[in-house]
Amino acid sequence: MSAVRDLQGRLWAIVGGSSPLARAFAHRVAARGASVLLVGRDLDDLARTAADVSLRHQVEVLVHGCDLGDPDQVGLLARRLQSEAEAGRLDLLLAAAIMPSQAAMEADPALVPPLWQVNVTAPIDLLLRLAPAWQRAGRGTVVVVGSVAGDRGRLSNHLYGASKAALATFTAGFRNRMARAGVHVLTVKPGFLDTGMTWGLPGIFLPGQPDPVAGTILAAALNRKDVLYVPGFWWLILTILKHIPEPIFKRLKI
Ligand SMILES: NC(=O)c1ccc[n+]([C@@H]2O[C@H](COP(=O)([O-])OP(=O)(O)OC[C@H]3O[C@@H](n4cnc5c(N)ncnc54)[C@H](OP(=O)(O)O)[C@@H]3O)[C@@H](O)[C@H]2O)c1
Repeated sequence: MSAVRDLQGRLWAIVGGSSPLARAFAHRVAARGASVLLVGRDLDDLARTAADVSLRHQVEVLVHGCDLGDPDQVGLLARRLQSEAEAGRLDLLLAAAIMPSQAAMEADPALVPPLWQVNVTAPIDLLLRLAPAWQRAGRGTVVVVGSVAGDRGRLSNHLYGASKAALATFTAGFRNRMARAGVHVLTVKPGFLDTGMTWGLPGIFLPGQPDPVAGTILAAALNRKDVLYVPGFWWLILTILKHIPEPIFKRLKI
């Protein structure tokens, strides 16, 4: 058990609780004394993580079933979290997303609305429903996991990238709105991570490991950083990528 229990009294709701990144984040906040609510579809997986986190760190860890593809379930989740936000106890990590292949979505555009629902509509819906309670409480931390893929539309991944760009644009404005009430909002832009989302895909290099990445995200959230590229070298890669002139960029096969 960590000696520093500075998050005692906080409740971290973690949406996408079966993601390795989210799991590592749950351990990180629990080690500092926070209670945890793991949110996701796979209740068996969440229950196993809950038991592990709770045993190791001696904190309360609960689970909540929610399919972000179903707006009614997002509404129920918001209702469960509203009282915690109102009490000034709620912090939130939004780590759920899907990334169907670009080729699959080009062949079957019917795959795009579900991508949009999970990656964009559901997170925005949840944040909008919780915002008034957070504003009244004047306290809380929100971490939204986007992606470097949202910084520029590339040939190989621009449908997923568009969803992350939309989420990042919303999050920037939401940060402004919430900052006025003392609630902090962090946008995280990971590069490649060593998780199921990218497992076996071609072209993956120097993937970040979930545990150190989760540690970096928590430190950034607690230091009230606004935007985090992680691992950090992705900031440089994206700065270069964003400055490539369009006539050249459109010829690149990346
Ligand atoms: N891996 C990368 O290289 C990378 C790079 C940049 C950004 N990111 C972002 O990092 C975050 C974590 O992803 P990851 O890499 O850890 O991938 P992952 O292992 O595939 O995790 C994705 C999470 O989203 C959940 N999810 C998917 N659809 C859902 C739905 N309809 N309802 C509720 N939950 C749903 C999954 O739950 P189930 O277990 O139920 O499917 C899982 O917990 C995501 O926001 C991702 O976009 C990842």
